[in-house]
Amino acid sequence: MRILRFRKYARTELRIAQTFLNAINHRMQLSNQFKNAIVTGASRGLGREFSKMLLAEGIEVWGTARDAKSIPIHDSMHACSLDLTDTLSIANFLNKIVEECPSVDLLINNAGYGVYSPFETFPVGDITRQIEVMLTGPIRLCRVFYPQMLKRGTGTIVNVASLAAEFPLPMMPLYNASKAGLSRFTKTLELEAKGSGIHIIDFQPGDYKTGFNDSVVHQKLQANSREGRVWSVLEKHLQSAPPAYRSAEDLRRALLKQKSGLVTSGSFFQARLAPFLARFVAWSVVCPVIRNYYKM
Ligand SMILES: NC(=O)c1ccc[n+]([C@@H]2O[C@H](COP(=O)([O-])OP(=O)(O)OC[C@H]3O[C@@H](n4cnc5c(N)ncnc54)[C@H](OP(=O)(O)O)[C@@H]3O)[C@@H](O)[C@H]2O)c1
Repeated sequence: MRILRFRKYARTELRIAQTFLNAINHRMQLSNQFKNAIVTGASRGLGREFSKMLLAEGIEVWGTARDAKSIPIHDSMHACSLDLTDTLSIANFLNKIVEECPSVDLLINNAGYGVYSPFETFPVGDITRQIEVMLTGPIRLCRVFYPQMLKRGTGTIVNVASLAAEFPLPMMPLYNASKAGLSRFTKTLELEAKGSGIHIIDFQPGDYKTGFNDSVVHQKLQANSREGRVWSVLEKHLQSAPPAYRSAEDLRRALLKQKSGLVTSGSFFQARLAPFLARFVAWSVVCPVIRNYYKM
């Protein structure tokens, strides 16, 4: 009886504490930390939600896409063209930033795309393209904005990697490689930035329901082939994944903490359990589990 009463009491206390924390969290404004931000890949999906969240906080956003017109209009949104596979486009974008926003507070390297193919038939041109968009591109932007932040002793960089950095997606070899590379790069930057006043976040989302799979490059898939079977599992995952705005909520919480480090985001399994397994379970165990899971 006493135990039951205690449990009821503890639950009420916990609910009050949670409401209190939510209220504080809600009152805290990212605009106290950031006046402006760059978000790459702001035309749709996670990037659009990150931008929406920042704009709602009163932050000026320089959002990018290959076609600036595809970026949703907002008074505080500065739509920019940026193709991360094109050196001239990167140079033009950087010139625009120098003119319009000489002191960048927050850089979110989010743009990305997938190419789905068994490695033996992987489109050769996409080897470089995948690395340019998801590894070289973000690193080049960090190379420009990180030293400026260092000089000022303030700023935050968020590199959007993926759970795929830990658990490779079948038949997306260059996507996995780029994300794993980006995650390692981010950790190196975190090492170097310690004590400088700059925060470096390795943001690793699990599946989120975006149009990501619609822009995945792949050859025609036969339903009964190995490629077809794996693809249908990937599709099922994305269709039943949480909505993209949840990822922006996780990012907002992470930014408010003003801390560097790994931030996982997604369903309980992908954001909590999977990173734990990645740390403690050997690849020799994980590999057959993944093969089985994707019906390879
Ligand atoms: N959705 C997920 O489940 C998930 C999970 C883990 C990680 N991620 C990562 O999260 C990021 C966003 O994914 P998403 O799901 O939001 O994908 P998405 O809806 O397909 O959006 C991708 C964004 O990247 C931009 N982009 C693509 N190619 C580009 C290029 N060559 N140069 C510049 N920008 C380019 C696109 O802009 P335009 O096409 O308009 O130019 C678009 O704004 C990606 O890095 C992805 O790998 C996503």
